[in-house]
Amino acid sequence: MLAGIRSASAVKQLGIRFKQTAPCATISHCPQRLQHLYVCNTAAIRFKRTYSSSSEIKNSELKVMGSSYQTDGWTNTTSAIQNKTGCNLLHNPSHPLAILKELIFKEFPSFAYYDSLSPVVSTYQNFDSLGFSKDHPGRSKTDTYYINENTLLRTHTSAHQLQLLVAGKQSDRSLLAQAKNGKAAPGNERFLVAADVYRRDEIDSSHYPVFHQMEAVCTFSRKEIQQLKQQPAHSNTNTQNNFEAHSIAYSQVAKLTDTTVIGNGNPKQPEHTTDEVAFVAEHMKQSMNQMVFQILSKAMAAKKAGGYQASDVSESEFPVRWIDAYFPFTSPSWEMEVFYQGEWLEICGCGIMKQELLDNAGMPDRLGWAFGFGLERLAMLLFGIPDIRLFWSTDPRFTSQFSPGRINAFKPFSRHPSCTKDVSFWLPSIGNFHENDLMDLVRETAGDLVEDVKLIDSFTHPKTGKTSHCYRINYCSMDRNVTNDEINLIQEQVRDQMVKQLGVTLR
Ligand code: PHE
Repeated sequence: MLAGIRSASAVKQLGIRFKQTAPCATISHCPQRLQHLYVCNTAAIRFKRTYSSSSEIKNSELKVMGSSYQTDGWTNTTSAIQNKTGCNLLHNPSHPLAILKELIFKEFPSFAYYDSLSPVVSTYQNFDSLGFSKDHPGRSKTDTYYINENTLLRTHTSAHQLQLLVAGKQSDRSLLAQAKNGKAAPGNERFLVAADVYRRDEIDSSHYPVFHQMEAVCTFSRKEIQQLKQQPAHSNTNTQNNFEAHSIAYSQVAKLTDTTVIGNGNPKQPEHTTDEVAFVAEHMKQSMNQMVFQILSKAMAAKKAGGYQASDVSESEFPVRWIDAYFPFTSPSWEMEVFYQGEWLEICGCGIMKQELLDNAGMPDRLGWAFGFGLERLAMLLFGIPDIRLFWSTDPRFTSQFSPGRINAFKPFSRHPSCTKDVSFWLPSIGNFHENDLMDLVRETAGDLVEDVKLIDSFTHPKTGKTSHCYRINYCSMDRNVTNDEINLIQEQVRDQMVKQLGVTLR
């Protein structure tokens, strides 16, 4: 599991999800590591007092997406992250992520789809409603951005599963009206959610604390399953296309491997019959295969037509495989991976929804499947975008390259020189040091000038038993050359804050 994921926090997050659907390190093997602005100011966000990432701040209010929240000892959202909450990259039809979102929506015409749900959700929605145990590592403050103990920035789009099922069941117009095509799926029995999600993480070309996911939920009554089973195999995927009719074309695009079996290691739930699970699982896999193949074939068609120069979309087959996985809210669970630049990249987690969740939604008579796709990873692959931070760029040299409904290769442009600074320090003797606290501190102090932060050395003194770390911070701007003097000032502030906020001793 977890090929290519390096950070401790990512691994722990996988603890949440057991794997990360976020973009992975593999992409950083891309030759050009481009740099970009992450400028995105939103007036919607205002702090009532100066706010730092420290969790000591209490009895203050912070405003996110127009609402005020009381902070407490759990609060760890930084203003740098708050400033991302209103960016709405998915609402710009010429943005690669929005182009991909629309392509996926089109593959599921019978689903309701949502792309405007607020990133602020309750801890209950994000974790409890999905069966995360109270001591699950994914709930940790080092992995999740909390607004306060009961409110957080969603870490995944699954946070909306129960809420949307309940809204459908109870005909809650206030939520259902937010569906872009609400009439398409009465009762919200099938829906898609595209949204920004937030996870504390390291800083580099394939990790960014905000990324985007596409969630799908598809439920069936037991009667529907019986009826659909009577129909010829492969004719009832969600896309309402005939899978077999396309299978020849698909085989030219992707080479599919699936050796997974439903059994002890990845069990069905006792509430479900073997037949029911086999049907729902097949329906899900077919729907997802079809979606991925359609999108890959679009990229290949663009390449053949000469509109796509990148080597990223191969001449012929894309290896795609299914592997077993674990998520607290599905069983059995799987992941879909694509082979890209010499490595298997996980692009999606999925599975048969836990029956308890459907019961809680008031739908005990239905079974369902769900998936969660990481949009950045697929978009990087389709558009040949080498660095995740480019998605946040407002540089016209990036934004002008894309247009609605079109997959085309990103053409790299020259970057401004970078400036690196090292900082060495002894870890505090009391309390914990967590790398993600350093990442947020640097992002908060240096803003968009920070390109990446890497641990380059670590040792423990044989006599004192004290541990020393050395991190290298790479500063770069997309639109101008930065001066050494300017970066020295920022580095001083970073060092200063490290002592104050993290309790380290600088060397
Ligand atoms: N929410 C999971 C994640 O972020 C992915 C997932 C979605 C898994 C739906 C199963 C079902 O990793």
